[in-house]
Amino acid sequence: MEGGIEEPGNIDQSTMSKRQRKRLQKRQFFVEHRKIKRKEKKERKKAKKRKLQEEKETEDGKEGVSSASDNLANNKEKLSLNATKKKFKSMNSEHASPLRVAIDLSFDDLMTDRDIHKLLKQIQRTYSMNRRADRPVQLYLTSFGGRSKTILDEIHCKFTSWDVHIREESYGDVFSQEDVVYLTSDSPNVLSEVDESKAYIIGGLVDHNYHKGLCYRLAVERGIAHARLPITRKIGATENEGHKKTGNEARKDVNAEEETDESVEGNGEDPNL
Ligand SMILES: C[S@@+](CC[C@H](N)C(=O)[O-])C[C@H]1O[C@@H](n2cnc3c(N)ncnc32)[C@H](O)[C@@H]1O
Repeated sequence: MEGGIEEPGNIDQSTMSKRQRKRLQKRQFFVEHRKIKRKEKKERKKAKKRKLQEEKETEDGKEGVSSASDNLANNKEKLSLNATKKKFKSMNSEHASPLRVAIDLSFDDLMTDRDIHKLLKQIQRTYSMNRRADRPVQLYLTSFGGRSKTILDEIHCKFTSWDVHIREESYGDVFSQEDVVYLTSDSPNVLSEVDESKAYIIGGLVDHNYHKGLCYRLAVERGIAHARLPITRKIGATENEGHKKTGNEARKDVNAEEETDESVEGNGEDPNL
């Protein structure tokens, strides 16, 4: 799977190891399942539209819909679509913030494909929330080019048209060192104020804390500033609930998370649309 975007069905399995074959089968299942889900979604949408149309016709006491009201409905639809689109703000708009926030994608080799999917899903959500924000930040993806890119390519995700700064270079080559603040929960420095002239870096690492303290150690080794966000593990948690979890508690959380986990939607579309 790594390194290519060949259709899973066309791949010669005879030379593969058992593990590679298993991986491929999983990927095939994912691709097939995605197709079915998309088809079902389309059908649900059509049925909803039909139902709305029927309700409208009953309300108007009309048997059919004249071409005039057809046009009116089309125009209304276009207007409401434009209104929704207007809610999105580009990072280049006058409302945008100069604050730079980068997701450091240099950890792909430390994650399983499953965890990379989780990470990509989180990135999609972040991107989508930023587009809807009153003051969108300058969102960056740095060190982009590893397995996360391969997976996005495989699911035909049109990330190149996203309103986000995509860079193959590391954040250290994109920003000047004095501007960089690495965010890590292990830092003793609590971030009480956001400085819009800085570039805040978030580790693109879903590891269930397997690589404990890694981002903090790297920031210290590289001599860059670091800070911790003043958040507890659970929003609204009491002091007791916000405590560091024991091994057993953390494992339970991971299992629960895995049970409810969905892979990143390979709809190949902008996640906002
Ligand atoms: C799942 S954590 C990675 C945990 C990893 N074991 C490590 O070395 O940090 C992913 C990223 O979320 C960010 N993060 C999570 N909680 C944070 C907090 N309280 N303050 C600052 N950053 C945080 C950090 O940027 C971190 O690299």
